[in-house]
Amino acid sequence: MTKLYGQADATYQAAGEYDGIKKLVDDFYDIMSQLKESQHIRQMHPDDLEASRDKLTRFLCAWTGGPRLYREKYGPISIPQAHAHLTIGSTERDAWLLCMKQALAKQDYPQDFQDYMITQLAMPAERCRNAD
Ligand code: HEM
Repeated sequence: MTKLYGQADATYQAAGEYDGIKKLVDDFYDIMSQLKESQHIRQMHPDDLEASRDKLTRFLCAWTGGPRLYREKYGPISIPQAHAHLTIGSTERDAWLLCMKQALAKQDYPQDFQDYMITQLAMPAERCRNAD
């Protein structure tokens, strides 16, 4: 059966709402801290990842069609602008997506949902790229 993840808040529901997305983001940053391939992007972040975890969790809630929790706490955001001070080339973009792919695989998500998420996230990741 084809699930229409993009419709209304279907993606937010499939991701497990706030708690599911929080766990995904926690795993994502844990993986980023551990993988050799992502040390250069981990080092772009503050030592204490608490705010980064909260921001990405809240951003992804709205991005998946759920509540606008990022805007509620931090105000409006443009993803390319939020990354404009960083140097992000295809290596950095691919390292970010690798961490996300591994984090998605750690969740109790069906394979088609993991594939959907990584395909969709590749778009904002590419829009963050401002080098090479
Ligand atoms: C393409 C590779 C990417 C790299 C290397 C990267 C790296 C970073 C870094 C270093 C920060 C600053 C963290 C901090 O100061 O707390 C950040 C912030 C953030 N990133 Fe990314 N990021 C990437 C892609 C993405 C994507 C695809 C999304 C969303 C789908 C995203 C969402 C965010 C959000 C919401 C913030 C917080 C912005 C703020 O409030 O200032 N990032 N990212």
